[in-house]
Amino acid sequence: MNESFSKLKFAYAFAILIIMAIVGAVLSLIVEDYIILISVLGILYILLLIILLNAFHKYIKPIQVASKTMGELLKGNYRARVHHPFNGSIGDLSRQINELARNLSELSINEQMQADQLKTVIDNTESGLVLLDEKGYIHLVNRKFLSMFGGQQRDYVGYLYYDVMRQTAIHRTVQETFLYEKNVKKSITLDKDTRHMYIEVVGAPIFTERKLLKGAVLAFYDITDFKNVEVMRKDFVANVSHELKTPITSITGFAETLLDEGLSNPEINRQFTEIIYNESNRLQVLINDLLTLSKLEQEGFTLSYSDIHLITIVNEVLPAFKQKIAEKDISVDTSISDSIHFIADQEKLKQILINLLANAINYTPEQGKIKIQAVESEDDVHIMISDTGIGIPQDVTPRIFERFFRVDKARSRDTGGTGLGLAIVKHISELHGGHVTVESELNKGSTFTVVLPKNLDKVK
Ligand SMILES: Nc1ncnc2c1ncn2[C@@H]1O[C@H](COP(=O)(O)OP(=O)(O)OP(=O)(O)O)[C@@H](O)[C@H]1O
Ligand SMILES: [Mg+2]
Repeated sequence: MNESFSKLKFAYAFAILIIMAIVGAVLSLIVEDYIILISVLGILYILLLIILLNAFHKYIKPIQVASKTMGELLKGNYRARVHHPFNGSIGDLSRQINELARNLSELSINEQMQADQLKTVIDNTESGLVLLDEKGYIHLVNRKFLSMFGGQQRDYVGYLYYDVMRQTAIHRTVQETFLYEKNVKKSITLDKDTRHMYIEVVGAPIFTERKLLKGAVLAFYDITDFKNVEVMRKDFVANVSHELKTPITSITGFAETLLDEGLSNPEINRQFTEIIYNESNRLQVLINDLLTLSKLEQEGFTLSYSDIHLITIVNEVLPAFKQKIAEKDISVDTSISDSIHFIADQEKLKQILINLLANAINYTPEQGKIKIQAVESEDDVHIMISDTGIGIPQDVTPRIFERFFRVDKARSRDTGGTGLGLAIVKHISELHGGHVTVESELNKGSTFTVVLPKNLDKVK
């Protein structure tokens, strides 16, 4: 309305100007005065210029501003706005352009946020990810992938997968994913920093909306821990079977001999029955140890805490070894302050002491020395059992707490050992929130130190 009114004003102004020009020209011709004619034309020219300038400011400039803003928006600068306060259709157009710019800016912020979130998720996911297009070019690799395979983004992105990934299992995964257009799973092993890593690769095809293959995602899962547990479980079963088989074979063999021919000879009778008895005992010890370990490992296993007066517990344990100590003429020196008290599971603590003392006695030659000491700090109590025995070779000390590990299998077997004693000690110490360490010198002796926290809040 406003605008058509101002257009009308322009039209009127033009008409009046033309009429004035004609009237001025006719008058100046009649009076034959060219000066008047030139002055009239000059004034008319100035008026025309003023009208044109006005029209430029009202119609052309706003369009120029709007077009410039649109140009900025097209270039992706969503902060561009039309700042001139125009009226009429031009004003409406400016407001609409500003509204559009605001919407675009909001959209782009949302898009950026989503892209950032997606990038954060992709980069922080626990599995390696690689995105390939249908030609096999890599478009994305995440942080976990780089930590597994090494290198940087720029070493992979933009390259063909088979040029930058060496493992043939990965090549086969991609090829089969593209060929069968379904998920494909394969395993690879990587040697990284002296560590053997097991990786599972899963290739998943990506399709367009029209179900055309557009690429693939490769996911890499580190299954090393899982594999190690599997290996440990297999080893454990093999070890248990082996340890059970040895005494059972022996028992069966001697029992058969007794049945076949030994019954008439009382001396052989006694000898063989003794062997059968000893082997049965071995079996019993082994099964008890296995049951102890399995109980300690059970989900939800809890310790029964009570106040421990350490010297009392040590004095309760020692008499069980009296005979053996006397047989081997070993001296046992106990140096534990009467004041040492702490909270622990009494039966399990006794088991620790029994296992460590049994070892100290078993692996110390006659006339050797054993020392039981304890010191306490504000938070922990350190219980040390030292001997002057055969010692443990340096290279196997890290393995000494493994199940079934024995430095000298034949020798341990003679002493009735199954190789589970120290594994049980380690387990009980850790259940208390503590730990066990060993210091040993071959042919000189060993010291086992059990550190237990005195406060229950340290216990896991
Ligand atoms: N005090 C020690 N001195 C020397 N070697 C030791 C000592 N304690 C343990 N060992 C070595 O560590 C191995 C593992 O000890 P562990 O107590 O676990 O098993 P074990 O004594 O053979 O059998 P058991 O399960 O009956 O205790 C032993 O076989 C022995 O070789
Ligand atoms: Mg032992």
